[in-house]
Amino acid sequence: MNIIFLGPPGAGKGTQAQRICNALNIPQISTGDILRRAIKEQTATGMKAKSYIDAGKLVPDDVIIDIVKERLQQEDCQGGYILDGFPRTVPQAEALEGIANIDAVVDLDVADEELINRLSGRRVCLKCGATYHVNMLGGETKCAACGDNLIQRADDKAETVLNRLTVYHQQTAPLVDFYQKKGLLKVIDGAQDMDTIFASIMETLKG
Ligand code: AP5
Ligand code: MG
Repeated sequence: MNIIFLGPPGAGKGTQAQRICNALNIPQISTGDILRRAIKEQTATGMKAKSYIDAGKLVPDDVIIDIVKERLQQEDCQGGYILDGFPRTVPQAEALEGIANIDAVVDLDVADEELINRLSGRRVCLKCGATYHVNMLGGETKCAACGDNLIQRADDKAETVLNRLTVYHQQTAPLVDFYQKKGLLKVIDGAQDMDTIFASIMETLKG
């Protein structure tokens, strides 16, 4: 299955995409993770993207569309994938129509207040993309999956989080309507606990 995970920053797209991908044995394609790795490796794309990400703005459509086009051509995508954080604008969604057949769009719905709580305590592993919250780490600073150091993302500062939420409401929320009209949208209450959300997504993908 070719699946899109839609939802505001902090909704749990990465957390759930990783779990669903393990269950279905398909790759998770997170444009945010790809960009953060490019910044770490100081590639040309990374250098271009850094100022946008740090400000909580979207990276230009042409840069992102090229990244996704190239990624979807790789061998491991032939049996399905989850797009985590793409598309995020109507032009991105329109570009995707030309390169992929999407089977389902999972929209994780969470109120802004809860999103701010989640992002302020998030810790991530840049190496494997695993995501944690300080409340469940008990002081641990290494990734349980791969052992690398956990960090706080530069764009999880309070002020940048507010910018990201504004950008989401202005530029990405219109995609809810876009996919609703195509009959692909599955809205999941993302304020529930992680196991319940996982079970709901698995159920909705069966139907
Ligand atoms: P990206 O990395 O995609 O960030 P985002 O969309 O802002 O989403 P997040 O990764 O912050 O949240 P998430 O939904 O994955 O939540 P998570 O599972 O981590 O993008 C970053 C930047 O890159 C963008 O701002 C932009 O600049 C650029 N970019 C990326 N894609 C782009 C595109 N297509 N076009 C243009 N620019 C692009 O969970 C969050 C926290 O909550 C964690 O601590 C987690 O442990 C906790 N949590 C998760 N689920 C639950 C739960 N059910 N209950 C309690 N806590 C939970
Ligand atoms: Mg994410």
